[in-house]
Amino acid sequence: MEKDFSRRSFVKGMAVGTLAGYFGAAGLSSTVFKSQLLPKEKVNLVDIGQIKGLKIKVISETSWYDNNVFLNDVKKAGGLLVNQYEIPWTREGVKAGYLGDNLGGFSTYIEAELMDGKVMKILLDSGWNPHWMDKRFKEEGIAEKLAKKEIDFQVISHEHIDHFFGIESTMRHYPDIPMYVPKGFYQDGFDLLKGKSFPKANVKNDHPHKGKVTVLDSKQVNVLYPGIALMTFDVPIILRVFGEQAFVFNVKDKGIVLVTGCCHQGIISYMEEVRKKIVGGEKIYAVQGGLHISPFEDWDPQYDDLIMAFNKYGVQKIGCNHCTGFITAEKMIKAGLPVVKGTARHMSKRDIYLGNGDELVIT
Ligand SMILES: [Fe+2]
Ligand SMILES: [Fe+2]
Repeated sequence: MEKDFSRRSFVKGMAVGTLAGYFGAAGLSSTVFKSQLLPKEKVNLVDIGQIKGLKIKVISETSWYDNNVFLNDVKKAGGLLVNQYEIPWTREGVKAGYLGDNLGGFSTYIEAELMDGKVMKILLDSGWNPHWMDKRFKEEGIAEKLAKKEIDFQVISHEHIDHFFGIESTMRHYPDIPMYVPKGFYQDGFDLLKGKSFPKANVKNDHPHKGKVTVLDSKQVNVLYPGIALMTFDVPIILRVFGEQAFVFNVKDKGIVLVTGCCHQGIISYMEEVRKKIVGGEKIYAVQGGLHISPFEDWDPQYDDLIMAFNKYGVQKIGCNHCTGFITAEKMIKAGLPVVKGTARHMSKRDIYLGNGDELVIT
């Protein structure tokens, strides 16, 4: 298991990440600059195999309900580099929230049909507020599937509050569930899994995890089943988190489908890595999940480059939501990009992109 990263190495990592992120997360001009001026790396392409089809259901993309309340909590605690386990997150008195609570969460349910007809059932992330997640799991039939141990495994994309702190809800239903976490998970994360409480951050888990935890690193493409892989990125992330992993599916007759949590690695970096490392990576058919571009609804002109870059990849369906931001979705649609519409139900604020309860089916 991962030892705690020291604050020094984290801050050092942030500096390296800023440089790498300049090329990756920033946008088209920097990515083009990189691909034209830097020598091509020789990498053996990995054939991950194929699946027949894919169903991706948004369980919850509403991580918190009021950006100002969230940002104020971070500011009061000392800023974006403060450890997320030491921030007193506001839980009550938020009119727009779920039962007056600002915390929601991110979680996605995936069914991937293998070529032999077997359907793999996968839960990506565990949300933040366990009560909200209990409700959403019940409404979408996930609670029942977990209780019957019908879900094959859970993947935690990264350790962030909104993707991981609601773990008690999953554990309450299925404490033995096999889990995959990215390399960089802090000891705090493993402790929370095992039942430790963090009262300052208002997070606990009274149902310790009893199943196997597999830590995946970035040294190789991690093929879990034919046509289903995870790629891990060594990225330093705000609120003292390190590392994110995301799915690569290869759907027969369609192409590559990427499913992400927050995508702190940068959507362009992610697509470039897939092109560079995976057979068929030049044909990215769909992207689904958080794209982390304007989560707080602010805008930097360089994000326009990033939106332009999507054209280069010829993505047919963009099932974005969560930290993608509404401004980004509006600009993508204006640029002619195929953003899949949602239905604005179950606390999702707008139908501009896939929201809670919405589904992307690829067959
Ligand atoms: Fe997130
Ligand atoms: Fe995140």
